[in-house]
Amino acid sequence: MATALVTGGSSGIGYAFARKLAERGDELVLVARHEDRLRAAAETLHTTYGVTVDTVVADLSSRDDLLAVERIFAERPIDVLVNNAGFAAHAKLLDEDWSNQAKALDVMCLAVLVLSGAAARTMTSRGVGRIINISSVNALIGTDNYSAVKRWMITYTQALDLELAGTGVHATVALPGWVKTNFHQAAGLDRPHIPGWLWVSPEEVAESVLADADRGQVLCVPTTRWKVAAWVLRHGPDALVKCVSNAVASGHRERSQR
Ligand SMILES: NC(=O)c1ccc[n+]([C@@H]2O[C@H](COP(=O)([O-])OP(=O)(O)OC[C@H]3O[C@@H](n4cnc5c(N)ncnc54)[C@H](OP(=O)(O)O)[C@@H]3O)[C@@H](O)[C@H]2O)c1
Repeated sequence: MATALVTGGSSGIGYAFARKLAERGDELVLVARHEDRLRAAAETLHTTYGVTVDTVVADLSSRDDLLAVERIFAERPIDVLVNNAGFAAHAKLLDEDWSNQAKALDVMCLAVLVLSGAAARTMTSRGVGRIINISSVNALIGTDNYSAVKRWMITYTQALDLELAGTGVHATVALPGWVKTNFHQAAGLDRPHIPGWLWVSPEEVAESVLADADRGQVLCVPTTRWKVAAWVLRHGPDALVKCVSNAVASGHRERSQR
């Protein structure tokens, strides 16, 4: 029986991954900060799918908590790691208070690096495993530190997969578009201007990414509409990328000033 560890597994995209993995019979370890939400998610998944669900209360921006989560890989075999925990760090780069930006680097870069490394070391010794990192289509534009953090995740995962070649372990980076979760409200960003057809469900994301990860694909953009958008942003002219970046960044600023 396989075991999957999902960071940020208590809600949104992480919970959708946990559900899909439980559906196929994987045991789960869910990591997040709020114990009540973790416990509720674990109870529902255990009751619905009959799998064992362990929970770990940890703030991945805390060095001690991160080291505690890293130790799990030495203590029990983990077959699938989903580095999903994250938040919308859309602040101005000229702001004096950089604490939230440092936290974004801790949760979405350092924790990804430490946990992927720990997972890769034990997975390669068993010759099997999947590491999935949740980036964003926002990585393909340049709105703020969030774009930079998510772009780091792409480069890091590509390099990791290269190092893993021939080991039986693969790394996949996912670039979802706008996904209907608590992510936007938590950052004070309501997005009524975004047309409904652009939104993707967390379940669509999890299903598509798990299928690509099983195939050993390195880069995954869930849904055809976002694949097209990502292709245009990756291959289109710099002027177009700048124009889209400006439009999205202005939207963030307008909403955060309300
Ligand atoms: N929603 C979108 O449109 C979208 C698009 C592309 C990519 N993404 C990415 O998808 C990932 C998941 O986002 P989501 O939309 O599912 O948001 P969400 O519903 O707000 O879920 C975020 C999860 O991460 C956990 N988390 C946040 N900070 C943490 C920390 N410091 N330590 C440990 N756990 C932490 C949260 O639990 P606690 O609060 O209890 O810690 C929660 O379980 C993020 O990396 C995000 O950047 C989202």
